[in-house]
Order: sequence, then C-alpha cells, then structure tokens
Amino acid sequence: MYIPKPLEDKVTIPQLKKLKQQGEKFACLTAYDYSFASLMEDCGVEVVLVGDSLGMVIQGHDTTIPVTLADIEYHGKAVAAGLNNAMLMLDMPFGSLNSPQQALDNASELLKRTQAQIVKLEGGAAQLKTVETMSRFGIASCAHLGLQPQMVNKMGGYRVQGKAKGAAEQMLETAQELQQAGTDMLLLECVPATLAAEITATLEIPVIGIGAGADVDGQILVLHDILNVTAGKKPKFSKNFMQGESSIQAAISRYVQEVKRGQFPDKTHTFA
Ligand code: KIV
Repeated sequence: MYIPKPLEDKVTIPQLKKLKQQGEKFACLTAYDYSFASLMEDCGVEVVLVGDSLGMVIQGHDTTIPVTLADIEYHGKAVAAGLNNAMLMLDMPFGSLNSPQQALDNASELLKRTQAQIVKLEGGAAQLKTVETMSRFGIASCAHLGLQPQMVNKMGGYRVQGKAKGAAEQMLETAQELQQAGTDMLLLECVPATLAAEITATLEIPVIGIGAGADVDGQILVLHDILNVTAGKKPKFSKNFMQGESSIQAAISRYVQEVKRGQFPDKTHTFA
C-alpha cells in the first residue's frame, strides 16, 4: 500500500543540492496538464517537467522536433496551475536555442508567462555559452546529456550514449564544463549506469537520470510510460507502475517511494 506524501515545503535548487549532499533521492515526472500536476503535487513528486515528449505522447508525432514554444507555454501554464510546492521545469523545444541571445529571450518569456522555476536544454557542449549567459541573467537551467531526442535526425535513432571509452570521457568533461558555466542541474538520458554514477559523484549539482541507473541523485520518467498508456514498444528504462495498483494516485505514490528507497531503477531498467 502506497500512501501519498505531499510536499511540505517549496522545492528549490539549494534544497535539491542539500538532498544530494545528504544522499537522499528525489523523484521527478513529466506532466502536461493541471489534473496530473495536482496529483503529482499530492504524491510528493519534487520536480515536474513539461517535457517536449509532449510532441509524442500528447500530439502523436514520431519525434519531439515539431514542438513549439507556444506548446510549452500552453502546457506549462496548465501544469503550473496544479503545482504549489513542486518545482516546475520547462523543456526548451527544438529551434528555440539557436543562439545564446535567442535562448535568453525565449527562456525569459517562458518563465515570465508560466512562472516556472527552471528550463531544461538539450545540446551539451554546444550550449555552454547559453548556459553561462542564462546564469548571468538569473535563469536557472538544467543541461541534458546522453541521448538527446532533438538530435534524432542526426543520430538516426534513439540509442544508449557514452558506451565507448572516448565518448564516456567526453561526456564527463562536458558535464564538468556545464557545471562550471553555471548550469544548476544535469539530466542524463540513456547512459550506462557506471558512467552516470561517475558523473554524479564528480558534480556538485544534482543529477537526474532517465535510463541512467540508480546512482544518480534523482529519477525522472515520462508519465504515460509509468501509467502504461504509451503506444507501441515501451523503453527498457521505464516501468509500468499501474501494475498491481488500483488508482493512478497509488501508481505515482509507488513510483515516488521506490525512487526514494532506491528500489527503482533496478538492473532490468538500467543499461550496463
Ligand atoms: O521531454 C521529456 O519528457 C524529457 C524526458 C525524457 C526527461 O526530456
């Protein structure tokens, strides 16, 4: 039985850093509307991401590329209405970060219109200057390394990243440079667990993982995956939390508790 435990205090970046220092895990999920956001708030999800995955799970596209700033703003406002203490993070969509100035302008507008606390940006080393500029102007950012779905047309598919020695070393170096440039958090997607553990141990900022093993500071999954409503093949790193539960609230609470107890992800949801 999983009893929902609502958040008692507003989640902030210093607070997530403190959790990292204390070795306490935190739970993150994607949300796209008011109702699910409220449920997550009640279940103690610390960080709620309006991901550009909305292009796939809400709009039915094959990739995240068609998602616009207007889409993120629309869903961001809906999710913000359901949150009280959880941190709201917004994805910067494809084409919104083509220069530091454009990124700064787009992120400032999004934060103003939605009252989100932080933006997430794909692009890795290409976004160092943007991260540094955002930091100077008071915009909190979460960099995104490993599998970057916005690069799908260059990569030709979705694959685990950082398996070869050179690629792993490069990712560690980029993670350190991003922290140095002022990013506040890092998200690692589809990265071997040992590499994710090394990056997490090296950085002071909180590291969130999806398909990055158990030794990161926080976990994130796509809502539709944990509720088992995603069409087609399910990603290896995800888990159907509805199985054995009689309500969505129980499934989300179980996800939160399994993350906090270090039970999720286990080896079956992790890349070696
Ligand atoms: O868009 C999204 O939902 C994401 C997750 C995969 C973390 O970036």
